[in-house]
Amino acid sequence: MVQIRAAGVNPIDWKLYSGAFHRVADQNKDSAGVGTDNLPALGLECAGVVTEVGPQADGVQVGDEVIVYPVTAAYAEYVTAPVTSLIPKPATLDWPEAGGLMLTGTTATHALHAAGVGTGDTVLIHGGSGGVGLMAVQLATAQGATVIATATEANHELLRDLGATPVMYGPGLLDRVRAAAPNGVTAALDLVGSDEALDTSLELVADRNRIASITGSERRAAAGIKVLGNGPGQDVGTEVRHAARADLAERAGSGELKVIVDATYSLDDAAKAHEAGIAGHGPGKLVLLP
Ligand SMILES: NC(=O)c1ccc[n+]([C@@H]2O[C@H](COP(=O)([O-])OP(=O)(O)OC[C@H]3O[C@@H](n4cnc5c(N)ncnc54)[C@H](OP(=O)(O)O)[C@@H]3O)[C@@H](O)[C@H]2O)c1
Repeated sequence: MVQIRAAGVNPIDWKLYSGAFHRVADQNKDSAGVGTDNLPALGLECAGVVTEVGPQADGVQVGDEVIVYPVTAAYAEYVTAPVTSLIPKPATLDWPEAGGLMLTGTTATHALHAAGVGTGDTVLIHGGSGGVGLMAVQLATAQGATVIATATEANHELLRDLGATPVMYGPGLLDRVRAAAPNGVTAALDLVGSDEALDTSLELVADRNRIASITGSERRAAAGIKVLGNGPGQDVGTEVRHAARADLAERAGSGELKVIVDATYSLDDAAKAHEAGIAGHGPGKLVLLP
């Protein structure tokens, strides 16, 4: 059992009840249009202090500070999880950063791996200022890639500080990326899900195996790019994501990898965190502090 000190908020949390993943019948919606049947227990990542251990929980002790991922139902004060989901929390990492590191960090690692990004690449990252995007920008830069990242103007300075060349998304994106990458783009990550992100990537990247999307759509499946996630035919990336956790914790603990926390909320204000997340334009993570 872990007493939760911080739980990360992610877009999947509202997608799970909004009908984004499955149609919700009108009679099963409340006055705000939110599905009321089979509501999921929210919260897919957190960090906290171990308060109880089971008989087979080798290597874990009461009082250990841990990051818990994967986990479910982490919008809570306490959560149970298998030992395999516990990663030691670096003492140098604050609770909000620890609680918001893993879902985006492992997803970014998987996307960069799937697109084969490394030294000498120029990678276009759509959604560079989002939770996953900020991780991908930093990890790609650390791997020796040149990064072009799309974001709204207000988030450009942060992206520059992290080593990326920011470009505004919207009409004219293709020309702006071409100007920012005169030698061409060798790989792309679609962390947004828009037609623009897909079309720009297909236009600029010659090898479709080097375009990875973490948002599914029929067009993405038909385009023959790498589609990552839990949907039918998608690459779940369990091994890559699982293996990345210790390295992500170490990098975040050393300060090499920054977890940008946009705002924190009490557990009672989880709905406000969702409203802020849906409104967008952070940059970075929203985190609940029980
Ligand atoms: N498949 C998987 O395993 C997986 C895992 C994690 C997340 N996801 C999905 O990936 C997406 C991103 O997740 P996240 O946690 O990074 O979300 P987030 O923190 O909310 O970030 C959203 C990003 O989208 C950008 N954006 C918003 N509108 C845009 C537009 N019209 N064109 C281009 N960019 C736009 C925002 O940029 P500005 O704020 O600068 O405008 C921001 O960078 C979500 O759909 C999420 O559900 C999938």
